[in-house]
Amino acid sequence: MFNTVKRLVESLRLIFPKASGGFFLRHIDINKVPVHVAIIMDGNGRWAKMRGLPRIVGHRAGTKIVRQTVETASELSIKYLTLYAFSVENWQRPKDEVSALMDLFVEMLDREIRELHENNVRFIATGRLGELSQRLQKTIGRATSLTEKNTGLVLNIAINYSGRAEIVDAVRQIVKKVDKKELEPDKIDEKTLADNLYMSDAVYPELLIRTGGERRISNFLLWQIVYSEFWITPVLWPDFKKSDFFEAIYDFQRRERRFGGL
Ligand code: IPE
Ligand code: IPE
Ligand code: MG
Repeated sequence: MFNTVKRLVESLRLIFPKASGGFFLRHIDINKVPVHVAIIMDGNGRWAKMRGLPRIVGHRAGTKIVRQTVETASELSIKYLTLYAFSVENWQRPKDEVSALMDLFVEMLDREIRELHENNVRFIATGRLGELSQRLQKTIGRATSLTEKNTGLVLNIAINYSGRAEIVDAVRQIVKKVDKKELEPDKIDEKTLADNLYMSDAVYPELLIRTGGERRISNFLLWQIVYSEFWITPVLWPDFKKSDFFEAIYDFQRRERRFGGL
């Protein structure tokens, strides 16, 4: 029964895509949009496979959606948008997919950064950036410093990122401070750890979106998501429309967040 209704809604959406996006947009309370949205952009490979195309074509198609999603986030006055672009575990993929992905990151950043800057977007990247190619590190460095003073949307690209690695890196920072006697071990608390995460100045994501239908976290923001609301869609990342983003926000605004209380 539930599936039949779901299929009916899906087919209506195919016939009236704009109308359904409009419905969600009309019913979004603009004063209650999440401050920070994080997205696991999954499903590029399957999108390409379904079309009999190489996986990289799916990744390329995904970059268009990154652009569109950044625009939508800005329009909605979301303050932080974190996009999971490459996990520490993604190095296990075939060499040619990895290198094509790295080339795509450089190409995309070089192409988009001017416009991001004109739109007051502040670009940052988080992850073990020192392990990326010199070329990519330079591109990231240029984009970060160019947009450093911007006051609009903060676009955080998680690249060579892992939630566990982030916690390990925070612990390393803390131990260094203890070594230098800047910090007493007994004084270490949750705030100390939080202050040493990659993006310590950002609020934690209230909404976590995953496309591609997998119901797992895949080593994304482990510390930060303790009370995030999850919104998982079977829609593959290259098919993720503006209206899907609106629907996620709409759904988020109808959740009851209790944080362990009543
Ligand atoms: C997500 O899409 C992008 C990256 C992990 C870089 P995938 O490449 O994981 O696509 P699927 O999950 O195989 O469809
Ligand atoms: C998560 O997707 C990582 C990114 C989207 C960058 P994966 O495709 O790597 O995750 P798994 O392997 O399905 O858990
Ligand atoms: Mg995947």
